[in-house]
Amino acid sequence: CVDIRKLYGQADVFTFDPGFTSTASCASAITYIDGDKGELWYRGYPIEQLAQHGHHLEVAYLLLYGELPSPKQMEDFENRVTRHTMVHEQMHYFFRGFRRDSHPMATMVGVVGALSAFYHDSLDINDPWHREVASIRLIAKLPTIAAMAYKYSIGQPFVYPRNELDYASNFLHMCFSVPAEEYKVDPALARAMDRIMMLHADHEQNASTSTVRLAGSSGANPFACIAAGIACLWGPAHGGANQACLEMLQEIGSVDRIPEYIKRAKDKDDPFRLMGFGHRVYKNFDPRAKIMKESADEVLGILGIEDNPTLQVAKELERIALEDDYFVQKKLYPNVDFYSGIILSAMGFPTSMFTPIFALSRTVGWISQWTEMLGDPDSKIGRPRQLYVGQDRRDYVPVANR
Ligand code: ACO
Repeated sequence: CVDIRKLYGQADVFTFDPGFTSTASCASAITYIDGDKGELWYRGYPIEQLAQHGHHLEVAYLLLYGELPSPKQMEDFENRVTRHTMVHEQMHYFFRGFRRDSHPMATMVGVVGALSAFYHDSLDINDPWHREVASIRLIAKLPTIAAMAYKYSIGQPFVYPRNELDYASNFLHMCFSVPAEEYKVDPALARAMDRIMMLHADHEQNASTSTVRLAGSSGANPFACIAAGIACLWGPAHGGANQACLEMLQEIGSVDRIPEYIKRAKDKDDPFRLMGFGHRVYKNFDPRAKIMKESADEVLGILGIEDNPTLQVAKELERIALEDDYFVQKKLYPNVDFYSGIILSAMGFPTSMFTPIFALSRTVGWISQWTEMLGDPDSKIGRPRQLYVGQDRRDYVPVANR
């Protein structure tokens, strides 16, 4: 705690905590993480149980409303989400304003932000019913928008949702079907996709969620807030790590080159970091990484590519790093992004789609956190303080005298 009155004569005392390593910005009942034990719970339910027995829309209901749904509640919720999967037809033109080679995340930041221009009937954030409609719209439309961003980037026509499919299968259909040939969704791959969505659904006050809350604290509309979250997620230290991680594994290429990269990661003069390693909160295994690793084995087995060289490099890199003093002492373990890219790549996604898939999955958590914040009577506009280290007061000098 810095008493800046002594330093700069300002009448205030506050905490100086760059990166918010020990400052709680809110009280939340949604997600619990024990970083030392490597535990993650959604509304009290361990992630391992949800990943094994649940599905993404069930988790979405749990995060949004606080309890697991009854069969009737589940059916109603799925029907409501399904009814909203289409985007306004005019949005197609909006996509066409982007360059074809835009990164899908760039397109998504713009298109999701523009939802408030298309769905301004659900912008009354003071009305819980409107808040709920906007939440359902976002959960329903994000897979459609991500798939459209992908199709646009590869020059293929948009594929409309098929609402008799489940959430994950529908997303795979919109990404991989072409007019001449409907993509046959393998249920096992759809299940793996659904599991990726569940594992990414929420992670308490990470950078993008805090961004959504901060944007929402001013009363900004939910579509704008989620667009802000997407923009923040894109960074390579956050959601962009899954793309960076697969690219790094591919660059390493073979097991014999791993020591060279481990050496670089430990070199203080080299900015290189092992992508997919380390986490602000987990100082033990990220429980999502364990599930993701099992899922990677399963998916590659289904596709008959168990000897995938990238997976071999990932497993060996993990083994070597976990025995290395540097990584042990700094408690650096694989995080959720370490294996997710291998699964997505095996399914046929290019690396540029990894972060959009993270974004559509995290939308559920973002909007649940936003809803919780607006319902909290103690919440107020987020306004961090700063420690001013600039010039003392001084007088203006006319340009001719400088
Ligand atoms: N490789 C090598 N060294 C690392 C790594 C890494 N991946 N991560 C941290 N370190 C080292 C740092 O150099 C630092 O060393 P020092 O104390 O000698 O200076 C120490 O470990 C602590 O690192 P910080 O950056 O201070 O830790 P922080 O908690 O701020 O950062 C982060 C966490 C950003 C995730 C970091 O571990 C990282 O950059 N990892 C790689 C990117 C990544 O995988 N991000 C995904 C995070 S999960 C998610 O967003 C879904």
